[in-house]
Amino acid sequence: SGYDEQYRPQVHYTPAKNWLNDPNGMVYANGLYHLFYQYNPQGNVWGNMSWGHATSEDLIKWQEQPVALTRDGLGDIFSGSAVCDKDNTAGFGAGAIVALYTSSGQYQQQSLAYSTDGMNFIKYAQNPVIANTSEPDFRDPKVFWHKESRRWIMALAMGWKYAIEFWSSPDLKNWTRLSSFSTETIACNRGQWECPDLLRMEYDGKEKWVLIVSVNPGGPVAGSGTQYFVGDFDGTQFVADALDYPLWLDYGMDNYAGVTWSNVDDRFILIGWMNNWNYAGAVPTSPWRSAMTLPRELKLMEFDGKPLLASTVVHEIETIAGEWRDVSSEILGVDGAYQLRLEVDITQDGVFSLSNESGESIEMLVSVATGKLVTRRTGRTGQISFASNFAIPSIKSPFNTKGDKMVLDIFVDKSSVEIFTENGSMVQTNLVFPRSIYNRLTGNTKLKAKVRSLSGIWK
Ligand code: FRU
Repeated sequence: SGYDEQYRPQVHYTPAKNWLNDPNGMVYANGLYHLFYQYNPQGNVWGNMSWGHATSEDLIKWQEQPVALTRDGLGDIFSGSAVCDKDNTAGFGAGAIVALYTSSGQYQQQSLAYSTDGMNFIKYAQNPVIANTSEPDFRDPKVFWHKESRRWIMALAMGWKYAIEFWSSPDLKNWTRLSSFSTETIACNRGQWECPDLLRMEYDGKEKWVLIVSVNPGGPVAGSGTQYFVGDFDGTQFVADALDYPLWLDYGMDNYAGVTWSNVDDRFILIGWMNNWNYAGAVPTSPWRSAMTLPRELKLMEFDGKPLLASTVVHEIETIAGEWRDVSSEILGVDGAYQLRLEVDITQDGVFSLSNESGESIEMLVSVATGKLVTRRTGRTGQISFASNFAIPSIKSPFNTKGDKMVLDIFVDKSSVEIFTENGSMVQTNLVFPRSIYNRLTGNTKLKAKVRSLSGIWK
């Protein structure tokens, strides 16, 4: 494939062909970012769940690699994580990449596979490493090294129990259950909990832990979405601070199952599945189905006296970015993917839209009374007929901005629009299927706009 089909993302990862969902096993090792993902090697719908694989030196340009893990007698290979075992705690060799994933058969159990070259994986002969014959939902292990207690910690999702369990291990093979985090806040229990990640971050000069939990359904708008909790983790138990939950990582329709890379120092880099379980099986792309979001760097920032998990696109985007140009007419002068930086007035209601020559457009409203940016994903945006729940007339996100203007960084690709405030305080990721990429900007609210091209990553 020349990666040039209609709707084919030019700056987002997609496999050449077939179905993709959650990002899995992201780990940095020997100068490469590894991205594994839920993949069907045999078709363009969910099934035969395996770990597809891609690698990158810069998080932006990806090289698809052979499928890393395929189903076996224990079942499908569901989501999970990977670590670089520098101290050889597991005995597979210093620096071995050790993957922990869910074997989904009659029950969901946790299994291990390791690799000494980052490409070929050997399944551990004594799988599963965490057996299960009673829990209906028990999956998506995310593992990290806890230096104070000198052991590995695993977060595991309990689906419809709305809980995340924590387990520990000295060697990645023998695991002990430590605790369970749940919430009485009914607002957070809107769908099954999946794909957790626990991050040791910094806030106000102090250590703070952030627990990311994907929920399906029950997202901020409809279908699936990603929430987070802020609190403390003492090596055994996570306790959430009293904040106004649910808190959303992304207010758009299409960022799910995101987790962060392991073995990256001092940065929290997340990539999400840019789709929504509400209609993922029907999105009109072929021979591939689904892309990843742009990779984002997470930070805990203060907003209104409280912590807020902010996302900005990783600085490596510079490697494909052209020169900034001021936008002086409706025509943006781009022929592929691009980044638009727009200053909008938030003291009065307004509207701006991105459109193409076919008259298709996506409209964004600035609503002062509600303090929200509202994206209108209607039939005007392009194709919507493949699923009755794809059109969403108002996808709302708070400005999360003080002052008179909001600076937006909008990344537009052939089938997505990702809107960030410049400091990441608000993010909205949405799929769209216009006949051709939006290349015009109109509206009455902009104060200033500049644009730069992003060169395609597949050349
Ligand atoms: C989330 C999820 C995971 C599971 C995987 C299966 O999208 O449901 O919980 O491991 O997808 O493909």
